[in-house]
Amino acid sequence: MKDISVFFVSLGIIAAVWLAGCSSPRTLPSKSRSPFGTVDGKEVFVFTLRNAHGMEARITNYGGIVVSLLVPDRNKNFGDVVLGYDSLASYEKKTPYFGAIVGRYANRIGKGRFTLNGTEYKLALNDGANTLHGGLKGFDKVVWDIDESTSSKEPTLALTYVSSDGEEGYPGTLTARVVYTLTDSNGLRIDYKATADKPTVVNITHHSYFNLAGSGKGDILGHELFLNAERFTPIDSGLIPTGELRKVEGTPMDFRTPTPIGARIQNQDEQLRLGRGYDHNWVLNRTGHEISLAARVTEKTSGRVMEVWTTEPGLQFYSGNFLDGTNIGKGGTVYQHRTGFCLESQHFPDSPNKPDFPSVVLNPGSTYTSTTVYKFTAQ
Ligand code: GLA
Repeated sequence: MKDISVFFVSLGIIAAVWLAGCSSPRTLPSKSRSPFGTVDGKEVFVFTLRNAHGMEARITNYGGIVVSLLVPDRNKNFGDVVLGYDSLASYEKKTPYFGAIVGRYANRIGKGRFTLNGTEYKLALNDGANTLHGGLKGFDKVVWDIDESTSSKEPTLALTYVSSDGEEGYPGTLTARVVYTLTDSNGLRIDYKATADKPTVVNITHHSYFNLAGSGKGDILGHELFLNAERFTPIDSGLIPTGELRKVEGTPMDFRTPTPIGARIQNQDEQLRLGRGYDHNWVLNRTGHEISLAARVTEKTSGRVMEVWTTEPGLQFYSGNFLDGTNIGKGGTVYQHRTGFCLESQHFPDSPNKPDFPSVVLNPGSTYTSTTVYKFTAQ
């Protein structure tokens, strides 16, 4: 008996010394879930993923929305760096795609139509004469199924959704799978997969609005942005790419050197006027298909840094131009103009109508795959 207690006391001392000796890991990675409500007769949950360093993501299977993301600042104080709502009802009522999975086709398809293998497909129009972010009821507004079979040392949430043939006008049944992983290196990784039973087009992204000072802590104009891109795709008045790949050099689109988002946003510039600010696709510098660095954002007051790594050829940088104070968010925060920014990994907007852009066609027998990581550090 005495031996046993000596053993446990020693074990306790060893554990205490070990915990005191390392700044991390402090906790075991974990995943839990709580009810969030019901949509379309289906149960909706919020899952809480936590990694060993205390970083925490709360994600719902309604639209695959990241509801909150707690990230440490330079003093190891955790802050929520994404915009969003407290209740499911608010997400259902009105949202500019806060934190959501966007599909089948992220961003715009001009005039909501395209021709594939000689057949013209007409999509639901939800952005004037165009289709935006999948249509009237895109992937951001459906209840995703939860796949509990995934196992990993890092906490994950696997979501699946079967989009029926003809949904929002798109051809083919599309089976989509999105896996969120909170990595041990403070990354929120998103792995996308999809298969189809007919030739179709697909382009899925994630639409978090970030504010690295903290959700509701002012505008994002002071955030410094680096974009790993020499070119961007200029837009017309409907925010549809013209088809040109234009050099960023000598324009306010040049973020090859880290520059505050607000430094040139008021410049007299045709593209900024058409986008009402930044709302464009950048053509990422890459060699091959490996995951590579697309963007880095630094927020000096908190010291938080976010990197975006992706396998995609493009990145939409949207400076929250349509936020206008009409969205009352978490804790009653009024989300004013440009209080969040989005970095959406993607194929280029309107690719189904732009034969020179990288192809977005998915044929039966092939699998669409895409990976993006939002990685956080502090300095
Ligand atoms: C994307 C688009 C923007 C806007 C937002 C949602 O980023 O590019 O024009 O539609 O989504 O409000």
